[in-house]
Amino acid sequence: MAKSKSYPLCNLSLIVLSLVALAVAATADDSSFPTSYTWRPQPPKKLTKPVVLLISSDGFRFGYQFKTETPNIDLLISSGTEAQTGLIPVFPTMTFPNHNSIATGLYPAYHGIIMNKFTDPVTGELFNRNLDPKWWLGEPLWVTAVNQGLKAATYFWPGADVHKGSWTCPKGFCKAPYNVSVPLEERVDRILSYFDLSESEIPDFMGLYLDQPDIQGHEYGPDDPRVTEAVAKVDTMIGRVIQGLKKRKVFSDVHVILLGDHGMVTSCDKKVIYIDDLADWIKVPADWIQAYSPVLAMNPRWGKDVKNPGEKNAELVAKMNKALSSGKVENGEFLQVYLKEKLPQRLHYSDSSRIPPIIGMVGEGILVRQNRTNAHECYGDHGYDNMFFSMRSIFIGHGPRFKRGRKVPSFENVQVYNVVAEILGLRPAPNNGSSLFTRSLLLPFGETAEVELARLILT
Ligand SMILES: *[C@@H]1O[C@H](CO)[C@@H](O)[C@H](O)[C@H]1NC(C)=O
Ligand SMILES: *[C@@H]1O[C@H](CO)[C@@H](O)[C@H](O)[C@H]1NC(C)=O
Ligand SMILES: *[C@@H]1O[C@H](CO)[C@@H](O)[C@H](O)[C@H]1NC(C)=O
Ligand SMILES: [Zn+2]
Repeated sequence: MAKSKSYPLCNLSLIVLSLVALAVAATADDSSFPTSYTWRPQPPKKLTKPVVLLISSDGFRFGYQFKTETPNIDLLISSGTEAQTGLIPVFPTMTFPNHNSIATGLYPAYHGIIMNKFTDPVTGELFNRNLDPKWWLGEPLWVTAVNQGLKAATYFWPGADVHKGSWTCPKGFCKAPYNVSVPLEERVDRILSYFDLSESEIPDFMGLYLDQPDIQGHEYGPDDPRVTEAVAKVDTMIGRVIQGLKKRKVFSDVHVILLGDHGMVTSCDKKVIYIDDLADWIKVPADWIQAYSPVLAMNPRWGKDVKNPGEKNAELVAKMNKALSSGKVENGEFLQVYLKEKLPQRLHYSDSSRIPPIIGMVGEGILVRQNRTNAHECYGDHGYDNMFFSMRSIFIGHGPRFKRGRKVPSFENVQVYNVVAEILGLRPAPNNGSSLFTRSLLLPFGETAEVELARLILT
């Protein structure tokens, strides 16, 4: 059976097997213990330390794996552990906030990257994917690893080129700055080449970033043949990873985690809310608005004579919501405006001075514009409420600590940091994941998939 080939017997460690044999002997009754079975000598495992390869496929919406044949992703799923209905991104469901939540285990309010691009309401400074470490709070996996004596490597992971703490983005082990033209094959091959190093030189943690199928999803919307093609391409890259690891006889030793940062939904200029349509209730100038959609972010500039801007903000929110719910504003029912402190708790999107005081939650696939002067077009976008199913991505874990064929309920991507830390034996920095979750996702240390397989064979 093709399935069992991915965990060839020749990779089983003799020591582990004898331990299992002893354990089984101690617990099983005589009739069930296979005394006649003899073990042939096995070569030792190729890798004796835990290694994690974390792969992000940008904009890989949950369900894309059913768009076309994806034999390689399917192999990871069938012999690994999968979030059955996908990985839940953090709000806002944008690339930089989510990659940093995966890397740090923190919600954006705590890791500081509250949008891809924003103006700090306090200092007036613009963040636009800057590398200045002052923006980047929290401790990403590569820093945790290096701090605790392990080696790390990253290839284009958003934020990994920020020099912070003990991480200097080492030449040769940190591919940066981001260059969209570098073919995916080249990225995969560079990561694979690390496995040709001696074991002590192989990075314990590797992060690999693939910018597809996000690019195609934005340009054409999620339901387009070019997105299907990009999904097939990502699958081919996963195949390249699997084959490369198999060739080096380490596929069953490496923890390969495949995930994405967010999903994708069709947004269309036929479904727009125009801020100028609220003028009968309240005039909202364009320079109060930092972002329109998928998140409406507002920082009103009340004049110096306004004594209590908080009160004015609350008044503004009330008037906007009155207009939007009046039934007289086109698509008004698809926008709800909040003081950030009043946002639903589940979004964890208030506890940062960088978050502007007023946030509008925009309906799935709806656009917000100032006025009707924009060109009509349809495309794809993300950034919406993380409750929308269309914003979900995938999570698949494969390797010794991931049970074969296990399905787990969906979880938020802030859990990933602890999961990787646990596999690598690292002390996690404070974060918003739960250590209990790690226990429910991973096989206990020592109780690896190999032991599990050995028990299957023995009993
Ligand atoms: C980006 O990558 C392409 C393809 O490898 C290469 O030709 C180009 O020189 C790179 N650009 C930069 C700025 O490094
Ligand atoms: C429409 O809004 C944009 C800002 O989004 C502004 O630059 C432009 O002047 C506005 N046009 C009109 C006619 O108000
Ligand atoms: C998230 O983690 C940070 C760091 O430990 C902590 O300060 C914050 O209160 C946590 N937030 C939530 C919502 O759990
Ligand atoms: Zn993205």
